Amino acid sequence: MSEIYLNGEFLPAENASISVMDRGFLFGDGVYEVIPVYGGRPFRLAQHLARLDRSLQCIRLENPLEPDDWERILTRLIGAAPGDLLIYLQVTRGPDPVRNHLFPHRVEPTVFVMTWASKPRDPAIVEEGVAAVVLEDNRWHRCDIKSIALLGNILLRQEAEDAGATEAILVRDGLVTEGSSTNPFVIQGEEILTPPQSNLLLRGITRDLVLELARGAGLACAERHITRDELETADEIWISSSSREVQPVTRLDGKPVGDGMPGPLWRRVDTLYQDYKASVSS
Ligand code: PDD
Repeated sequence: MSEIYLNGEFLPAENASISVMDRGFLFGDGVYEVIPVYGGRPFRLAQHLARLDRSLQCIRLENPLEPDDWERILTRLIGAAPGDLLIYLQVTRGPDPVRNHLFPHRVEPTVFVMTWASKPRDPAIVEEGVAAVVLEDNRWHRCDIKSIALLGNILLRQEAEDAGATEAILVRDGLVTEGSSTNPFVIQGEEILTPPQSNLLLRGITRDLVLELARGAGLACAERHITRDELETADEIWISSSSREVQPVTRLDGKPVGDGMPGPLWRRVDTLYQDYKASVSS
């Protein structure tokens, strides 16, 4: 495995360890980011670092590093691993001598960064799309924080997998929120819809880029509440994330979405996305 970064040191992953008293380990008390790297360059880095800052503020933890320090760490790890990558970084509230729900008085956050090779795009997804199921969003009410405490998301994703689907699209009080690890888009006619930002969903960097690119191309977009019924009668559904990019959902709860094939608007937006990627990574 390639080099990782832990608390000021670069070292092989197998030589890295943290305290069993780390609050990330005991309480899930920390936040994270996943950042794609294309052509050796982190994609939308400023946006990811801004969201990291926001998540840290939300959990009342100061960012232990300056933007330049983050960039220096990422540059070194990217240099040590060829090809397209995903960067995972996490900051926890660090170790405390006792297990105490209250914040420790002196905080030494744990900073961990690793990379792994991203999988090339699966041609089957482009040709056929993916399957999703609709599940009740039973997570907490601060899904806007990119928390490492992901048990709710994990259980939902596993339930989707067990039902033969790749993602769970979540509904709370009859309204679509997000996917277990993606943001959804619902296409009604020519209009691209996605739920508005709130405490009930993560503001995806990919989501925001899709909106930016689609609007830039003159496509109609709206950030508004989407009912379960609108989801189930959509012409197209997409899901987006840093690791999946934008994927067409062609089966929902076992039924075809639209004609059951990736739709024309998805093809248009996917081309915009791939072109943008190429333009900033070469
Ligand atoms: N997940 N919503 C949730 C709950 C997520 O976990 C993610 C990303 C997204 C999409 O955000 P972005 O476009 O910024 O990646 C939305 C990452 C990839 C993960 O946990 O691996």
